[in-house]
Amino acid sequence: MSFDTRDYLYRRKEIIDRSLREYLPLDKAETKLHQSIAYSINPGGKRLRPILCLAAAELICGSHKNVLPAACAIEMIHTYSIIHDDLPSMDDDDTRRGNPSNHKVFGEAVATLAGDALLTDAFSLITERFLEQGMSSELVLRVISIISEAAGSKGMVLGQAFDLEMDGDEHPSVSETLNTYMMKTAKMITASVLSGAILAGAEEKELQKLESYSEKIGVAFQIKDDILDVTGNHDTTRGPEVKTEPKKHTYVSIMGVQESNAKVSEFTNQAIGELESFQRTPNPLREIAIWLSEREE
Ligand code: IPE
Ligand code: IPE
Ligand code: MG
Ligand code: MG
Repeated sequence: MSFDTRDYLYRRKEIIDRSLREYLPLDKAETKLHQSIAYSINPGGKRLRPILCLAAAELICGSHKNVLPAACAIEMIHTYSIIHDDLPSMDDDDTRRGNPSNHKVFGEAVATLAGDALLTDAFSLITERFLEQGMSSELVLRVISIISEAAGSKGMVLGQAFDLEMDGDEHPSVSETLNTYMMKTAKMITASVLSGAILAGAEEKELQKLESYSEKIGVAFQIKDDILDVTGNHDTTRGPEVKTEPKKHTYVSIMGVQESNAKVSEFTNQAIGELESFQRTPNPLREIAIWLSEREE
């Protein structure tokens, strides 16, 4: 029977949505801070990173039992990153996922604090929930180390800094651009896959393959995101603005849409190649890589 990727993603997204509601009960948020957090966490977006975390665990041990706190913590960090990314001092985007961005509703100060809180609370969630589940502190620390390194000044935050620097650069090179994508996007995608796999008991050899897979789909994902911005097939994230010339340097603005599509295919094929030694079929990571490269929104 063929693998129904859409159905798989829908069902995993439901699991993540439910778990986030359980871990972050924000329905009756009373403070502005909590309302601001709730605004960006629910309903959220594709939940790609936590789904990858579940999928990696399923690939290794056939189940995603026990990995949900890490998956949800990663989505919290992702949510913080996009709240801050939209701020006037960063990308200055007024809309996100078709709605006013967080700072447009709650103001810059509260939006900044909501991001700060999400980042910090992500690590509280991991420690509290995993220790409650009786997980070894060694394993908890390993996961914290992987996620914090990917999120911080050697990973996503560094990528965001490179991204801002590239704006001031008249002719950023292709390698600078790809390196920025590796940092700002692929590092957290890699942490998502690796933490799921580690929690499911993956061996070092398997982790190396998965790291390489994730870096490739991560960079491909960002290039695809830029293509969709230009071709106007993106979701409603930026309203009518999506069809205008990109205001930022991107892989697409340097190389053009055709070459960018070719690069997405190249990275996706390389990523799938990294999964050859995994025997489990269907392999959800393989199907997700293909889906990401073909997505139209
Ligand atoms: C947006 O990520 C930021 C990028 C790295 C391109 P997503 O496209 O995963 O955002 P949502 O959460 O699904 O809206
Ligand atoms: C966002 O990249 C990356 C992070 C938030 C780490 P972009 O700025 O390219 O993504 P969008 O287009 O705003 O979603
Ligand atoms: Mg940005
Ligand atoms: Mg942005």
